[in-house]
Amino acid sequence: MRKLGIMIVTVIGLTGGDLAWADDGATVLITGANRGLGLEYAQQFAAKGYTVIGTARSPATAEALSKVADRVEQLDVADAESVAALAGRLDGVAIDILINNAGIFKRQDVTLDQVDFDMMERTFAVNTLGPLRVTRALLPNLRAGHRKLIVSMSSQLGSIENSNGRWYAYRASKSALNQFNKIWSVELGPDGFTCVVVHPGWVRTDMGGPNATYGTEESVAGLVGVIEGLSKEDNGRFYDFQGKPIPW
Ligand SMILES: NC(=O)c1ccc[n+]([C@@H]2O[C@H](COP(=O)([O-])OP(=O)(O)OC[C@H]3O[C@@H](n4cnc5c(N)ncnc54)[C@H](OP(=O)(O)O)[C@@H]3O)[C@@H](O)[C@H]2O)c1
Repeated sequence: MRKLGIMIVTVIGLTGGDLAWADDGATVLITGANRGLGLEYAQQFAAKGYTVIGTARSPATAEALSKVADRVEQLDVADAESVAALAGRLDGVAIDILINNAGIFKRQDVTLDQVDFDMMERTFAVNTLGPLRVTRALLPNLRAGHRKLIVSMSSQLGSIENSNGRWYAYRASKSALNQFNKIWSVELGPDGFTCVVVHPGWVRTDMGGPNATYGTEESVAGLVGVIEGLSKEDNGRFYDFQGKPIPW
């Protein structure tokens, strides 16, 4: 069914469907959009004519984002007050697509006896509870949107089936995010929502480092294609940036 979805998008694209998205006033909100994959999402969605709301912890220094986004909003996903304030400022604004992108990966390759619980809690606060808070706070906005898409940036490192150990905090934070995605898909699916977790590949950002396999442009072009091709059958699924399913 996914192939069918992609085919339909391709055919629509040939007949001006991309413009239809813009005409439709499709609005995408991207968290952590001041750099890395979030900024690339903002740039590519803006180039396609979407209305882009990009969030940053420090909007004053988010110069590149300010050049492409229709709105730049302050948001620290781990700060309940910041999330509530964003929801207040966006009251009544319909959002078609939420991209839960903000994340951290504190590289601490430790064994069980060395686990740092402060770092574990911080990683969960940002990577797992952050998307939960943001999704809950913006649910009225998403309900008012046409597409009702919730896309959360997971990682193949969150796949339990593919795990070869290491990286306690990051792996577990993304596995738990995957579970939230599943719960949302069951809870919100009947209301017309499609909720997916995606893996961008290993990408050259501050997080991925300079030796990563893919550039942000290639990764996000793939992800945007996957997102635009999503249909109801995809609700609850886990895809990489090339649209391949990832085992849980
Ligand atoms: N790069 C990869 O290879 C890779 C692979 C798999 C998954 N991912 C996932 O893809 C997403 C984006 O990764 P990236 O490579 O673009 O990372 P990045 O370059 O390190 O950028 C992370 C973004 O998240 C923001 N952020 C961090 N903590 C935040 C908080 N508490 N509240 C709000 N924003 C916060 C950062 O804002 P500041 O500038 O304020 O810190 C920044 O905008 C993450 O969820 C990551 O786990 C990346």
